[in-house]
Amino acid sequence: MHPFAKTNRLLITPIPNDFDAGDLLPAFNSNPGFLSASGYRPQFTRADVEGYLMEELLREDSLCLLIRLQHRARTIGTVAIQAPNPSDGLPWIGLLLIEALRQRQDFGTEAAQVIEDPLASEGWPSVRLFALRENLGVRGFWETIGYRVGSEAKDAHGREAWLLEKELSARAKVRGA
Ligand SMILES: CC(C)(COP(=O)(O)OP(=O)(O)OC[C@H]1O[C@@H](n2cnc3c(N)ncnc32)[C@H](O)[C@@H]1OP(=O)(O)O)[C@@H](O)C(=O)NCCC(=O)NCCS
Repeated sequence: MHPFAKTNRLLITPIPNDFDAGDLLPAFNSNPGFLSASGYRPQFTRADVEGYLMEELLREDSLCLLIRLQHRARTIGTVAIQAPNPSDGLPWIGLLLIEALRQRQDFGTEAAQVIEDPLASEGWPSVRLFALRENLGVRGFWETIGYRVGSEAKDAHGREAWLLEKELSARAKVRGA
């Protein structure tokens, strides 16, 4: 399978057909704060991971990707994007999740960049996401990497959230221009 992107450290690929959902359990279960803020059960099972992936994969124009360490081919997270989201015609990041053991090592930043670069090259003006207000610290991450906090809002599940948005490179061709 062709990788979606390769960096010095990461291989980011679509979820393969024969993917073992158990590979993503450490990424979900090592983030209890995220699970609780999202209203998920405290421990994910394989079936929960499968349910999550199914929901993302069935969304129109969405891409659900695995984040793996290149040198060990180990799964350390996942990221989902939808381009465009039918609500506003802009690309949205659904979830970016990195296993706790691997956090604060710039993997989240690297994975976000891998998502943003092709969106910029395709001419999308900006990318958006919701950060749940109960998911403490996450807003700080997105702000650090250049997302601006917009209005307070409710996400598609009615959860209190901040709308965050990042303008993509001005060098990119503006879509439709
Ligand atoms: C949010 C998440 C993806 C960040 O991944 P990460 O690999 O740890 O992020 P990085 O190492 O690239 O962080 C870069 C910078 O962002 C900021 N940052 C990251 N996590 C932060 C936190 N919890 N609180 C405040 N600032 C944070 C820091 O400035 C950090 O730089 P530093 O480590 O030198 O201080 C990760 O914490 C995660 O998977 N959380 C659980 C899932 C989740 O809530 N996802 C977001 C849904 S919208």
